[in-house]
Amino acid sequence: MMAGGEVQGLAGRRVLLAVSGGIAAYKAAELVRRLREEGAAVRVVMTAHAQQFITATTLQALSAESVRSELFDSAAEQGMGHIELARWAEIILLAPATASTLARLAHGLADDLLTTLWLASPALKAVAPAMNQQMWRAAATQRNVQSLCADGVLCWGPEAGDQACGDVGPGRMREPQELVRQVIAALGGGDLSGVEVLMTAGPTREAIDPVRYISNHSSGKMGYALAAAFAARGASVTLVSGPVALPPPAGVECIAVISAEEMLQAVLARVAACQLFVACAAVADYRARTVAARKLKKSEAQESLWRLELEPTPDILATVAAQPQRPWVVGFAAETHDVENYALAKLQGKRLDMIACNDVSRADIGFAADDNALLVLWQGGRRELARASKKQIAEQLVDTIVDVWRSREG
Ligand code: PMT
Repeated sequence: MMAGGEVQGLAGRRVLLAVSGGIAAYKAAELVRRLREEGAAVRVVMTAHAQQFITATTLQALSAESVRSELFDSAAEQGMGHIELARWAEIILLAPATASTLARLAHGLADDLLTTLWLASPALKAVAPAMNQQMWRAAATQRNVQSLCADGVLCWGPEAGDQACGDVGPGRMREPQELVRQVIAALGGGDLSGVEVLMTAGPTREAIDPVRYISNHSSGKMGYALAAAFAARGASVTLVSGPVALPPPAGVECIAVISAEEMLQAVLARVAACQLFVACAAVADYRARTVAARKLKKSEAQESLWRLELEPTPDILATVAAQPQRPWVVGFAAETHDVENYALAKLQGKRLDMIACNDVSRADIGFAADDNALLVLWQGGRRELARASKKQIAEQLVDTIVDVWRSREG
């Protein structure tokens, strides 16, 4: 138990923290401390460059284990040999992961202790990249990260923001607290371990003809942040997503669909297995009654007007909520005016357990923005989540959902 009686998420788990040489290496100290607070046994290996940024003595004091950096260290090999260390780890977390170390790992080099352990270990592996934004965007770095991900390595971050070098952009190492949450989730811990969450996110596209479609401005950012927040607490998350330009969140199973009908079928195929269903997708409400097989030509329009006959798409959220054996159901409401009243009508009309509504008439929140603000309503309760990044809003919404769901399920 932690102070305050909370359950430790990593009690008895074995984490090998690999530190490579970037300015974010100083955060390794806090990472070790937080991993140990969660009950993990932590051992640290460092590259030669990492020692320019943080001392082995600091990490040794915090981990209460000797820190290793040399492959050929006879004193260390007398204790725990490097192959033994590779087998000891349940997870190897490379944090910070520099562009150079990512490149060496992607190519399978084994030219120092860290890279040798990486190759020699059957453990789960994760990287927390940290570098200058231009280095992160470089085609070679992106190739290396993609090839590591294809090998099953989890990639956590980087975050965008101000950088030590004065640049602004993606390349900041994810905060230690967040990385610890991801380690817990990756090792199957977390307070939502064993909970199956099914979600929808992004827009749908309803074809008019082979080149045109009806859609909306959803970027998927809110839904993807929510899926990541559930996964970080250990839930097993399946995300049915319309077309977006976002990478799948780490540890989340993503099912790509295009239309409302495809989204409905993907949801119905999986809904029986889930305890929580969260509909964040901006499903197009209407579709063309008939989809033309060939591109409609302007010359075919009458009197220069083009009349399109529309029919409603299936309401995925209402369909799930109407199932006899239904999960706990959370909907969203995107409104431009009279937000609370319309949201209440949806909560009751669609027989939902909870609804999160946002004002999509504002440019600073809602569709495509990086921030959001939500009013969350349920039978007998409400919570306002003030404007913050979609990541923070997602974490607060997950807290709210879990609090109310657990109190109702007993
Ligand atoms: O993706 P982002 O750019 O980050 O933007 C986030 C968001 C604004 C899209 C998101 O926060 C949001 O509000 N999502 C719901 C959008 C929506 O379609 O709201 P609605 O009020 O039209 O629909 C009500 C609910 O019914 C929603 O949960 C929706 O998923 C669901 N629905 C609607 C129509 C339909 N045919 N099937 C549905 O399941």
